[in-house]
Parts: sequence; structure tokens; C-alpha cells
Amino acid sequence: MSKTVLATGGAGYIGSHVVLALLNAGYRVVVFDNLSNSSPKAIERVARISNGAPVLVEGDVRDAGALDTLFENHKIDAVIHLAGLKAVGESVARPGLYYDVNVAGSSQLLNAMLRHGVSRMVFSSSATVYGETGGRPMDENTPTGPVNPYGKTKLMVEQILTDMTAASSGWRSVVLRYFNPVAAHGSGEIGEDPLGVPDNLFPFIAQVATGRRAQLDIFGNDYDTPDGTAIRDYIHVEDLARGHVMAIEHLFSGQAADNRTSVVNLGTGQGSSVREVHRAWEAACGFDIATRNAPRRAGDVAIICAEPGKAADLLGWRAKYDLARMCADHWRWQKRNPEGYR
Ligand code: NAD
Ligand code: UFG
Repeated sequence: MSKTVLATGGAGYIGSHVVLALLNAGYRVVVFDNLSNSSPKAIERVARISNGAPVLVEGDVRDAGALDTLFENHKIDAVIHLAGLKAVGESVARPGLYYDVNVAGSSQLLNAMLRHGVSRMVFSSSATVYGETGGRPMDENTPTGPVNPYGKTKLMVEQILTDMTAASSGWRSVVLRYFNPVAAHGSGEIGEDPLGVPDNLFPFIAQVATGRRAQLDIFGNDYDTPDGTAIRDYIHVEDLARGHVMAIEHLFSGQAADNRTSVVNLGTGQGSSVREVHRAWEAACGFDIATRNAPRRAGDVAIICAEPGKAADLLGWRAKYDLARMCADHWRWQKRNPEGYR
């Protein structure tokens, strides 16, 4: 019988791609999401293009009663915990909310797993937990040092998960530290659907390309990089989703050890500057996309790039898709769904 994976936050941007990849790999999937930053339409679309239909349960990870009902009604073999809040600026303005949803919510979920005998977790963390490296690629031993409440919540949950995995009989877990997830499923049916003005580079360029915004502001052209603009390690969300399936398979394999948490970067190891991303978008769209030079954005650093070797060694995972493919797939989604799921 196929195994059942619970995906918290499975209606969201990354979650919907993870759910699709799990279904296509033969897993049954239960999504638990309060839909605070997502649409049930994402789940309907996943059902339309996949080998199976996910079950959607609406609820909040901070609600212990709802979690008990969820685990009583569904026999869960493993959890992928994606639910949470992710806007760096908002976390500075509303830290209490971020500690509540991300930290208290994760703690509720882990305690519910303990009560119901579920002993496998993959957790969505972020490269934002690392401290400054002066541009050197970050491996999993790079010292941590998050500088905003969002990053601190991610590191705290990693620590709670590590301690609970060490102390609980039969527990195994994987922490996935994502670099910059972008793009959309190649079908153009699911993708990122930000509310309001996008904070991030790809969704912002996508809205300039559809004519919803006048131009892209390039935040800083005086960084110590070859073209002066900041460099990031962008990763296709389909590659990222495949990494989750491989992490789940690892947890069920003989290679994973009980009471151990493995921390794994998911990045390509290949950095791209803002100007390179802009050029790749113009090539994908086949027309010019207006830009304007703007001051550096507070809190940004020149270069963030992964050393992705551990994902290859431990999970057998490597990113497959390059920047051209990321732009082409993101553009297909945006062109077909200029208003997202609305
Ligand atoms: P998203 O907002 O699209 O997805 C998060 C989902 O969690 C949404 O569907 C939302 O409705 C749900 N959710 C929020 N609070 C909840 C709660 N209290 N109870 C139940 N559900 C709740 O974001 P995403 O980009 O898909 O990110 C998924 C995960 O990956 C997050 O944990 C995020 O911190 C992490 N992450 C994202 C990025 C990125 O750049 N997108 C980078 C690193 C890590
Ligand atoms: N940028 C622009 N113009 C824009 C938006 C972004 O020039 O309109 C630039 C940024 O200054 C940065 C690069 O594009 O140099 C990438 O910016 P994003 O906002 O897309 O991504 P970040 O690297 O800033 O943020 C990502 C995740 C966060 C996470 C952070 C940790 O989105 O969730 O990495 O490094 F916290």
C-alpha cells in the first residue's frame, strides 16, 4: 500500500509543487492549510494535472485540536512541514505573529506527531539562517546567524526539530534549506501568486512583463560583483519539489538513522546577477522589459550562493533546470494566469 504524506502549507506556492511531485511519485497526500496565503484552486489544479487527488483539510497549525482530528482521521506516515509566514519585512514589523505561526505552530505540530506516533518530518527552512560569508558558497557547516525575525524563526524550528528527533523513539528528520525558489510547473497550471506588490525579483519581473507594473527597479548597481548587481542562487521550484520527494524517500530508506536530523541545502551552486536574470527574462518573453536603477535594498548582501554537494551525496539530488528554463516556465504561468488564481 502506498504511503501517505501530510503536507502542511500544501496549497501554497512551493507546497502545491511538492504535492504534485509526491502524487506523481505514487504517494497519497493530505494537505493541511489555513489558506491564509493560498487558494484552494491550487489544489484543484494539482488534481487536474497529477496521477491522483490530494485531500485538502482546512486548519491552522497552531490549533492542537484540529491537528488531533487530522491525525485521527488520516493515517499519516510522514510530514512535510511547509506551512508558515515568509515575508522578511513583515517579520520585522510583526515579530510576535511570526514567532506564533512559525515557532509555536511548528511546536504544536511536532507535539501532535508525538501524540499520534508519526516519526518522520521534512522541514522547509531557508538559506536565510546562514550568517554572512563574504560571498563564499554556503555549505551546511557555514555558521548560522539570521539577521531578521523570519530567519530566526526558521533556525529555532530547526533546533526544536533536532532536539525532538534526538529524544523521540524512531524519529528521523531532514531540514531543507532552500536558496531562491522561482519559476512554476512546466504545465503553466500552478505557480506563485503573491498578494499585493511582489517583494521578490521573479514575481516582480513577471508583473512588469504582463504590463501590470511599469518597470523593474534594480536595487543596487554598485555591489562588488562583475556587473555591480547582487547575485543569488535561483532554483526551479520543480527541482525543489523533487528534492522533497527524495528527502521523504531517504527517511524511509535504510540509509537514514533514527534520532538524527540531516540538514541539506537545496540550491544549484550557480549564482546569477539581477542583470543576468533580467536578460534571461527578456529572452524568454521575446520583448524588452523596462528597468530603472534604484538604491540598494536594506538588508541585502552582494552574493548568496549554495554549495549543494551534500544534497547529491545524501539524497542523490542535483538541480536539473537552468536560468533560461526558470524564466520560460515562470513566464508561461504568468501569461496564462495574469491575475494568478483569482
Ligand atoms: P506560501 O505562503 O505560498 O505557502 C505557505 C502556506 O502555508 C500557504 O498556503 C499558507 O496559507 C499556509 N499557512 C500559513 N500559515 C498557516 C497556519 N498558521 N496554518 C496552516 N497553514 C498556514 O509560501 P511558500 O513560498 O510556498 O513557502 C513554503 C515554505 O517554504 C515556508 O515555510 C517558507 O518559509 C519556506 N521558504 C520559502 C522560500 C521562498 O522564497 N518562497 C524560501 C525559503 C523557505
Ligand atoms: N531585486 C531587485 N528588484 C526587485 C526585487 C528584488 O533588484 O524588485 C533584487 C534584490 O535586491 C536581490 C535579488 O533581486 O538582490 C533577489 O531578491 P529576492 O527578493 O527575489 O530574493 P532574496 O534573495 O532577497 O530573498 C530570498 C527569499 C527570502 C529569504 C532570503 C534569504 O525570498 O524568503 O532569500 O536570503 F529570506
